[in-house]
This record gives sequence, C-alpha cells and structure tokens, in this order.
Amino acid sequence: MSRVVAEAPAKINLTLRVLDRRPDGYHELDTVFQAIDLWDRLEFDHDREIRLESDHADLPDDGTNLVYRAADLLRAESGIDGGTKIRIVKKIPLGGGLAGGSSDAAATLLACARLWDLDADLEMLEPLARRLGADVPFFLYGRTARGTARGDRIERLQPFGEKPLLLGVPPFESATAEVFERASRRLTLPANSVNFPALFGHKWKQPNDLAFFGNDLQESVFETRPELRTFREGLLVAGATAALMSGSGSTVFGIFEDVASRDAALANLTGDFETWSLVPSRTLDEGVRIHVG
Ligand code: C5P
Repeated sequence: MSRVVAEAPAKINLTLRVLDRRPDGYHELDTVFQAIDLWDRLEFDHDREIRLESDHADLPDDGTNLVYRAADLLRAESGIDGGTKIRIVKKIPLGGGLAGGSSDAAATLLACARLWDLDADLEMLEPLARRLGADVPFFLYGRTARGTARGDRIERLQPFGEKPLLLGVPPFESATAEVFERASRRLTLPANSVNFPALFGHKWKQPNDLAFFGNDLQESVFETRPELRTFREGLLVAGATAALMSGSGSTVFGIFEDVASRDAALANLTGDFETWSLVPSRTLDEGVRIHVG
C-alpha cells in the first residue's frame, strides 16, 4: 500500500450516566455514543520514522499527540520496522466533547494496520484502543453504540437513524478531568444509579426516546458556564426534540426532526451566539472511512 487516507468522524453522547467512581480514578459510565457527520482527514505515507504534521497550530506534533501514540503503539505491538508520515487536516474542534483526538487515534490504528499490511482484526486493535483512551474503542465501531465500564466496553445498538443536528461550539474548551471530578462530587449514590441498562436495546421509537437523553456531567458545567444552559434552552425553544451537552463539553447539540427546523434554529440563534461556532451536522450510521491508494 503506498498511501492510506482515513476520515475520522466526531461523536456526540445521546446519553451519559456517571454511575460510580472507580479505584483507578476513572468513572464507571453508561453512555450511548453516536457518530456524526463532521470529519477529520488523515493521510498516511510510508516513512522510516513516525512523523506528524497538521494544519492546526494548537495540535502537538510530537509523542504527546494521541495519533502519534496510536501509530507507535501499533508499531511496537506488531514488531514491524517501518514508520509513517501522517498529515492531519483538522475539522473537529478541540476540547469540545466531540472526541476528535480519540477518533483520529482509532483511525490511525485502522489505517496503519492497512498501510503496514498487518493481520490486525478488531480483537487485536480494541485492547490497544483502550490503552490510548476511554473514548477510542468506540471509534473502531462508530455508528450507534453503548459504552460501559470507563466508556470503553462497546456494544453495538440499533442505528439511531440520520437526524439533523445543530452543534453549538463555544469559544472555550472544557477540561475533562475537572468536569468528571466536579460532577462525581454531586453524585449521591445509589439514588443516581438508575437501572439505566434496562432502558437499552430498544429501537429508538418516538416519543419515549426523550427519556433516554441525559448527561450527568451537564449540570456542573452549566453552573460555571451559564451561557451553555442558555444555548440549550434556545435550541429547545427553536424546536429541537432534544438538546444536551456532549460528553464533558463544551459543545451543546440539538436534535431536530427535519432539516428545515434545524436551519430555522440556526438562523434564530446565530445573532445571540456570535462568538460561537454553530455547525449543522447529522447523526450517521457510519464509522471511520478508510481509502487505500
Ligand atoms: O481516557 P481519557 O484520557 O480520554 O480521559 C480523560 C480524563 O477524563 C481522565 O483522565 C479522567 O479524569 C476522566 N474520565 C473519567 N472517567 C471516564 C473517562 C474519563 O473520570 N470513564
């Protein structure tokens, strides 16, 4: 293979329940990940070393980048000699709860396995993905999937379907570890540990679906960033069937029944949120795309 190109989608969390704090410092989650139509692009060429460049000034191009670590981990585990030159074209906002870095890392595992002609199936790649970060295994699957444990035990769900979305990305990032810390102090178990698993496995029928949407990290972020709450309320007033913060924030998204109502919401909210980036998107029954050249 002379070149492999990967397209790596962003995700939102349709639900995110924080069930408990774990001895390893992480939190026990029950979440529904959903891939969305917003993509980073990564190009992989053969090289003797692993080298990285990107079009985004804030993205590290050294061993601290999750993409670099993904390629390095796969190289070490498979014992191959070569490397790859990776070029990242970044479209997914950083620090927005859309997991662009995790998606790029999963895409790197899939793409390097092809570039280096490895006999690597999901069974081999999933433990590597888990070592890279809690959100990475989901992106080996994409589509609609449930994440338990640290969010890294993945189970496929019925497709949610293609629904129009409006993403509101504020001009500040969210610090994931801090958000989990604050939210978990508010959890008064077992009152919050609803039997959420019992709600899964359904076929996403309306109108009961609304009961599924929720994010246990949301309130504590809204307390420090009230404009996120205002944006969420704006989405609901503008006709969103559900609106939530994604992951640990800072992005807030609305789900709409049709493109016309989504576009009307976009027009309504633009004036009041001038410093935000308002991004039309949609939920997708797809995952990482790999093109071999
Ligand atoms: O795994 P990842 O590096 O993406 O996680 C970032 C941080 O988010 C962790 O260091 C941890 O503080 C927090 N986290 C958590 N519980 C999870 C996932 C993430 O507490 N299930």
